[in-house]
Amino acid sequence: MRNIYKNSKYNLNKAKKILIKNKIIAVPTETVYGLAGNAYSNKSVKKIYNLKKRPKNNPLIIHYYNLNMLKKDAFLDYNFLKLYKKFSPGPLTFILRKKEKSKISRFANANLNTIAVRFPNNKVIRSLLKKLNFPLAVPSANISTGVSPTEPSDVIDEFKNKIKFILDGGKSRIGLESTVVNLCGQINILRPGSINNAEITKVVGKKVFNIVKLKKIISPGLLKRHYSPGIPIKLNVKRSDDKAAFIVFGKRYKMKKNMFNLSPKNNLNEAAKNLYKILRKIKKLKYKKINVVKIPNKKIGIAINDRLRKAAY
Ligand code: TXA
Ligand code: MG
Repeated sequence: MRNIYKNSKYNLNKAKKILIKNKIIAVPTETVYGLAGNAYSNKSVKKIYNLKKRPKNNPLIIHYYNLNMLKKDAFLDYNFLKLYKKFSPGPLTFILRKKEKSKISRFANANLNTIAVRFPNNKVIRSLLKKLNFPLAVPSANISTGVSPTEPSDVIDEFKNKIKFILDGGKSRIGLESTVVNLCGQINILRPGSINNAEITKVVGKKVFNIVKLKKIISPGLLKRHYSPGIPIKLNVKRSDDKAAFIVFGKRYKMKKNMFNLSPKNNLNEAAKNLYKILRKIKKLKYKKINVVKIPNKKIGIAINDRLRKAAY
């Protein structure tokens, strides 16, 4: 398909050349696909905000290959290093204190004194990061408040011909955005993901809070409406009429045309991987309403419920 480029040495070099020119490309990660630009360049970062129609006060996650380059941009404390050792590269984003002399564009972190950093675990984006002498600002590759893309064709769905270069990394293995953990002051989880509170608590050895309701927006990803297909969604529904799309989970359903099963095998990881795909499909089929059964609120189910609640808001 047009604009989609296979993983090859030639195409990675081409991606590098485009990024050096302060242009934006789409990249795969193990969580969701992202829009990538040079995080040191104001010009690149502004382009990302414009493409996504993203509010300027919602900072981006900076993606690194390893600690070498990060050392210049952020303070690396003891808890960070412990979590890094255990979970990186992987689907965990850390909020760290930004260094005064960091070259990160102030637009990328919305002028805060912190930055969000992540080391994605997908071989295509890792090969690319390794070639660059700057980190990448990479938000999910969707128009603001919409559903994140989990394969190259979803990026075209979102941006049509505006993104000319999409690196193909196949389907995202996890399918939900990374867990965001704030390490500045009291440790808390700003966005649940596949790495859960219990796993983080075990590594840092002290209580980790889940931020659900905040007076002040620490993380604009907590904005109430988000991850939305733009169709009214009702949660914890037991029975649905045939006109609405009905999202179910598990073995016990006799499937009808309007029904979409997140995981017939009753597997929450599979459900996470299918969620955005199914929301996109339902939108394409032009349903006017979505009903969703209750999803078990454990492990990655906590993140699924978080996204569904925000999509339903
Ligand atoms: O899995 C992911 O994290 C994907 C892939 C592409 O890496 N990226 C992603 O980026 O989900 P985005 O921009 O859609 O979400 C970034 C989240 C937002 O909730 C944002 O508010 C929060 O990270 N964030 C970024 N910088 C922050 C900061 N300095 N303090 C608090 N929250 C921050
Ligand atoms: Mg996003």
